[in-house]
Amino acid sequence: MKPITDLTSVEAGAELERLAREIAEHDRRYHGEDAPTISDAAYDALRQRNAAIEARFPELIRPDSPSHRVGAKASEKFAKVLHVKPMLSLDNAFADDDVSDFVARIRRFLGLKDEAQLAFTCEPKIDGLSASLRYENGVFVQGATRGDGSEGEDITANLRTVKDIPLRLHGKPPEILEVRGEVYMTHADFAGLNKRQEATGEKIFANPRNSAAGSVRQLDPAITAARPLHFFAYAWGEVSEMPADSQSGMLEAFRQLGFAVNPLIRRCLTAEEILAFYREIGSARASLPYDIDGVVYKVDDLDLQNRLGFVSRSPRWAIAHKFPAEQAETVVENIEIQVGRTGKLTPVAKLKPVTVGGVVVANATLHNQDEITRKDVRIGDHVVVQRAGDVIPQIVRVILEKRPPHAVPYEFPILCPVCGSHAVREVDEKTGKQDVDVRCTGGLICAAQAVERLRHFVSRNAFDIEGLGEKQIDLFHVTGLIKEPADIFALKDRLEELKAIILEERKRQSAERAAKAGKAVTPPREDAKRTFKEVDNLLAAIEARRKIGLERFINALGIRHVGETTAKLLARRFHTYAALAAAAESENGLAELTAIDGIGAVVAEGIKDFFDEKHNREVLAHLLNQVTPEETAAVADVDSPVAGKTVVFTGSLEKMTRQEAKARAEALGAKVASSVSKKTDLVVAGPNAGSKLTEAAKHGVEVINEEDWLRLIGSGA
Ligand code: IVH
Repeated sequence: MKPITDLTSVEAGAELERLAREIAEHDRRYHGEDAPTISDAAYDALRQRNAAIEARFPELIRPDSPSHRVGAKASEKFAKVLHVKPMLSLDNAFADDDVSDFVARIRRFLGLKDEAQLAFTCEPKIDGLSASLRYENGVFVQGATRGDGSEGEDITANLRTVKDIPLRLHGKPPEILEVRGEVYMTHADFAGLNKRQEATGEKIFANPRNSAAGSVRQLDPAITAARPLHFFAYAWGEVSEMPADSQSGMLEAFRQLGFAVNPLIRRCLTAEEILAFYREIGSARASLPYDIDGVVYKVDDLDLQNRLGFVSRSPRWAIAHKFPAEQAETVVENIEIQVGRTGKLTPVAKLKPVTVGGVVVANATLHNQDEITRKDVRIGDHVVVQRAGDVIPQIVRVILEKRPPHAVPYEFPILCPVCGSHAVREVDEKTGKQDVDVRCTGGLICAAQAVERLRHFVSRNAFDIEGLGEKQIDLFHVTGLIKEPADIFALKDRLEELKAIILEERKRQSAERAAKAGKAVTPPREDAKRTFKEVDNLLAAIEARRKIGLERFINALGIRHVGETTAKLLARRFHTYAALAAAAESENGLAELTAIDGIGAVVAEGIKDFFDEKHNREVLAHLLNQVTPEETAAVADVDSPVAGKTVVFTGSLEKMTRQEAKARAEALGAKVASSVSKKTDLVVAGPNAGSKLTEAAKHGVEVINEEDWLRLIGSGA
């Protein structure tokens, strides 16, 4: 190929035309057919040559140039997979009492007599990431992540590379079988991987779970294949014919079909046996080759599981018994104040780095001024820190015996450390009580608040833009590239600046790394290439978010008191952004908002204040020029003969307990009330029903017996 400096303008034009066509064709093969015909490196080389020619002949840049089109390699990411049976999470138990309560609760719900036996399957809780594997006629056809439980990502190609996952099942599998379980990495493999990553200057993973998750979500299955992953089966989704009628039977069936099932699983009959299992696994924990963060107990009988059903997102028939948080001792080297997006000042203890439960901890939150006073944490103190699951590390207590003599009580600042405005504790008008949080009064002039809002905007449950994390937001904010959310979507028009900034940062980082390791700096040409790719990926990820679910959009705005849950409520109530804004800006907005189940006065005021603020409306207008929040579909009503009806149960029921009857009725969309009124639609009466029957007669409410009820809801008597 001719050096670019030797190209004539005519030659350059011809080559740009050829490159545009060729790159478009490779994009099509890669995305559309999942069948690229050239290596990533060769593809990158084509794009680089295109860019270099364009840099020398900017007047020849074509309207169809691949450099405009940011939909390059990474744009597609993973396809979505809908889970026909949702992937649920588990309730947690921490103390022994929680476990006895769990067992007692189930016995009560099912109305079991004291002597009746109730079996549980007890399983180690593997600390990896869950996946759902779909087999049709015994052949692995699709693998998905859990995602939000209803919708995951299609990671079939990656899961095919996991050796524990059979591509074809043994024996006689059901026609359709979705096996669910945990993808995990062993300690030894994790250590080996990190060593290799370090040697090649790649990302170091914090723990085996993160590295398993990172490996499974690789866009290039070849990378996943090189990562040593394992899989344990423990649950299922859609199954055409059930091979067993118990949890333990299902696990045995999975084993025979060719899956790895955890060998430590045990069937237990009483709370005592369960707790003995918990302690055994707890002592074996440190010597297991993989991470576990607790044990899981599941009612063994599947009929009983069905009767027990679910409470919101977790089954009533299972619970995760977590191991206690791991603790370690270290020293508080400093106390720093972070300013959040709502101006809240949060004290953070800067710790002498210490390993807690396999993760290096260098920061711990101190929550607020009162918390520091209560624990009397001082700079220089020896402290006990702990990590519990995903929770931010916390300081459990100060080791007073080791307090250095010069340590003085910490004085909370009265000025915002970022913008210098006054920092105050607000007083609640109604109660007259002081708020626990100290807030910066600087509002929009405070850079910390602006940055935090942007960080929140791109965070996981908001816009979730891959490659645009906190570090990049900080960088783009200080360099003036991004001042408000809309600017993110205009980055593509500032390509040269963006590249220069990232390249500069990359150089700074490699210089820093090299200095640390006492090695030579990576040649800048290599940096330029990686930067090019990074920018390309980033812009693609941004483009992918121009359309966004209304829930995420609302959550991203960072309205005070409005998080994921409230965002969901608002999206379901208003369906479109326009309807929400109209309601919030209207005169009786507060009333309209508080009418929503789950939204109280404080939250409603937060929403109204947000929309009343002129600056916010401007920022929103800019943003809406760039992105389109999608309409939220109306939630389909439960299709059942009792949906929307108000039902009262009275007298003793024979087929099930009152609690179970209530749960089932509610699952079918009915409202269960405890007393009869003119609003009642139906009374279900068992023997010994008393005054409620008289009430029913008075209001002319229909009365049926338990058998009729069961027939009505279609579960036979
Ligand atoms: S059962 C309907 N069993 O824990 C219940 N989960 O907090 C579905 N996990 O998302 C889960 N080991 O990632 C189950 N033996 C086990 C498990 C297990 C690990 C994880 C799984 C799940 C999370 C629930």
